[in-house]
Amino acid sequence: MSEGHEIDNLLHEDRHFAPTRDFSAQAIAQPTLYQEAKDNRLEFWANQARYLDWAKPFTEILDWSNPPFAKWFADGELNVSYNCLDRHVEAGNGNRVAVYFEGEPGDSREITYAELTTQVKKAANVLISMGIKAGDRVAIYMPMIPEAVVAMQAVARIGAVHSVIFGGFSAESLSSRIEDAQAKLVITADGGYRKGKASALKPAVDAALSGGRCPSVDNVLVFKRTNQEVGWVEGRDVDFNLAMAEASDEHVAQAFPAEQPLFILYTSGTTGQPKGILHTSGGYLTQASYTHKNVFDLHPETDVYWCTADIGWITGHSYVAYGPLANGASQVIYEGTPETPDWGRWWSIVQKYGVSILYTAPTAIRSFMKMGSQVPNQYNLSTIRVLGSVGEPINPEAWMWYRKVIGGGHAPIVDTWWQTETGAIMISPLPGITSLKPGSAQIPLPGIEVEILDDEGAVLGRNHAGLLAITEPWPSMLRGIWGDPERFVETYWSKFEGVYFAGDGAKWDEDGDLWLLGRVDDVMNVSGHRLSTAEIESALVSHEFVAEAAVVGAKDETTGQAVVAFVILRQNQLEKAGSDADVSKILRDHVTKEIGPIARPRTIMVVAELPKTRSGKIMRRLLRDVAEDRPIGDVTTLADTAVMDIISGKVAAGASD
Ligand code: WT7
Repeated sequence: MSEGHEIDNLLHEDRHFAPTRDFSAQAIAQPTLYQEAKDNRLEFWANQARYLDWAKPFTEILDWSNPPFAKWFADGELNVSYNCLDRHVEAGNGNRVAVYFEGEPGDSREITYAELTTQVKKAANVLISMGIKAGDRVAIYMPMIPEAVVAMQAVARIGAVHSVIFGGFSAESLSSRIEDAQAKLVITADGGYRKGKASALKPAVDAALSGGRCPSVDNVLVFKRTNQEVGWVEGRDVDFNLAMAEASDEHVAQAFPAEQPLFILYTSGTTGQPKGILHTSGGYLTQASYTHKNVFDLHPETDVYWCTADIGWITGHSYVAYGPLANGASQVIYEGTPETPDWGRWWSIVQKYGVSILYTAPTAIRSFMKMGSQVPNQYNLSTIRVLGSVGEPINPEAWMWYRKVIGGGHAPIVDTWWQTETGAIMISPLPGITSLKPGSAQIPLPGIEVEILDDEGAVLGRNHAGLLAITEPWPSMLRGIWGDPERFVETYWSKFEGVYFAGDGAKWDEDGDLWLLGRVDDVMNVSGHRLSTAEIESALVSHEFVAEAAVVGAKDETTGQAVVAFVILRQNQLEKAGSDADVSKILRDHVTKEIGPIARPRTIMVVAELPKTRSGKIMRRLLRDVAEDRPIGDVTTLADTAVMDIISGKVAAGASD
C-alpha cells in the first residue's frame, strides 16, 4: 500500500435493509439488468445508448484498439442538447417543469421544458453571433442559477466545449484554467446570492483577464443576477440579458459525432497543476442518463428530483445539467447555502416543491446532524422516497440519521461512488433490488467491472484491503487530460497494465459488498471536494515568508478531512512574519487568494523542520499523526529521528492556529 494509507479492517456492519415489496414492484431498475450486462456487456451498453435519440445511429459500440484511448459509439451522431430538451417538447412534454428555481433571497421561478428549450436556442444564437464555433472552448463561471445550465446546454448545442469553473475558485485559479483550455469566451454573472448577501463574481473574471493574461479570450458574457455594480470593458463585455432579449428563438440542433468533446472539468491531482478532465458526448450522456434513471429510480412524470451539487463540480454536470434533463426530470435548483436564512432552508424547499429524490453529500448530512433533528422535523418531508449520497464514504451513523430523519425511516439510500474521471456513477446499490448496508457503496452497477488489487496488481478476495481498479472501459470514462496525453496514461493507466487505477483504497467484505477506504495518493477530500496537497503546498511556498511547506488531510468530524499545513519560515523573514498567529492568518489568506476559500487551511503549524526520509521525501504519514493527535508511528526511515519529537512537542504546546 502507498505510504500513509490506513487500512480500516475493522469495518463490520450487520444492519441490512431489504427493499420493500411496494418499492420493488414499481422500481425502474429491473434485476435482469445484472444478467443482461453479464451476458453481453457491450450489447448492454448499446441498449442503454439507444434510449437517446441518435441523428445517425451507431453501428460500432466500443473501439478499444488503442488503449487507454477509448471511442464509444464512434460512428453515431447526436446532439446532446437536443436529447436534453427538444425531444421532450416534441414528445408532448413541453409543459412539464424542467427546473424549479429557488433563489437564496426567496425569489422563485418555474421553467418548463418548452421554455428551457427556447432559452437554450436563444443562448446558442448569442454564442454563434459572438463567433463561437464547434470545438471552441467556453469558460463558465456562474452562480447556481438556471442560466448556468442554459449556458452549458447552449455551448453543448453548438458543439463547443465548456469548462465550468466553480464560483468559489479565485481569480488566479480561474486564470490558469482559462489559459490551459485557451477559452475564447467567458460566461459569468455580476454575482449571486450567498449567505444573505450579493456576492460578486465578475471582479474575479476581470482580475483573471487583467495585465494581458488569457489573450485567447475575446469576449465576456455577463448575466445580471444581483444588479450590483460591476466594471465594464467596452468591446469585450456583453450584457447576456440584453443579448438574450434580442436573440432569435429558432435554432435547429445539428448532430455531432459521438466523440465530439463536450466539456473539460479541472480537478486536483497529485501535482501542483490541476488536470483538465475531458469528456465527450454520446458515451457520457448514455451513462449519465442510465445511472440517473436507475440509481435514483426516476419516474419523470411524478418525481421532483433535487441534487444539491454546484455546477462547478462533476456532480453538477452529470446529475444537474445533463442526466436529469436527458431523462425529462423535473428538478430543483437552489442558489444559496443550507444555513440561509437558517438551517431549515433545505427542508422548507423539500416541503415547498414536494421533493421526492434528494442527492447530497455526507458532509452536509453531518452538518445537519450536528444542528439536531428538531430542525428537519419541523417540515413535511413525507414526499421523499429515495436518498442519495456522494463525494466521500458515508459513515454508518450519518447513514442511519439520513434514513431516519430525512427519509422517514423507509427511503432507500444510494451511496454512489464515482469520480470526475468516471463521468457518472460506477458503484452503487440499485433501489428496489439491493439490500442496503449502511456505509458500503455495495456493488458495481450493471455494465461496470472492478477489481481490488494489491500493490503488485494481484486480485484480492474478500476481507483484504487494496486498490480499486476498473478493469473494463465504460461509456462515460474520461477520454484524456486536456493537452496532456502522457499524463493521462501515466496517472491512470500505468500502475497496472490495461486497467484504470482510481486512486482509492477499497475492500470487499464477507458478503461481497464493497467498502471505500479513502484516497491512497496525496489527494485530500474536504467536504466531498478534491484538493491536492501539492497544489496547496505550492501556493504556500509562493509566499515570501515560506521556505518549505507540507500539507496533509487530517480527519475532521464535519468536513471528512481538513487541510492542515506545516510550514518552515524563511530565516530572513522571521521578523516581518510576527507571531505564529499572525503568520497563520496571513498564510491562510494567501491560500484563499491563490486557490480559493475551499483550499483555506484549517490549521497552519509553524515548525523548524519537516520529517523527511534519507532520500528527501516528506513523510506525510507522520505529520498526519500529529495533525490527528495520535501517537507518532514508525520513524525509523527518517533521516533525523529527533525531528518528530520537536514537531509534536511544539504542537502540544499549543502553537497551532
Ligand atoms: C473521489 C472523487 C463523484 C463526485 C464527487 C467527487 C471520493 C466519491 C464516494 C463515495 C467513498 C467517494 C473518492 C473518489 N468519493 N464518492 N460514495 N464513497 N468515496 O468527485 O472530486 O472527482 O472526487 O471522491 O475518493 O476518488 P471528485
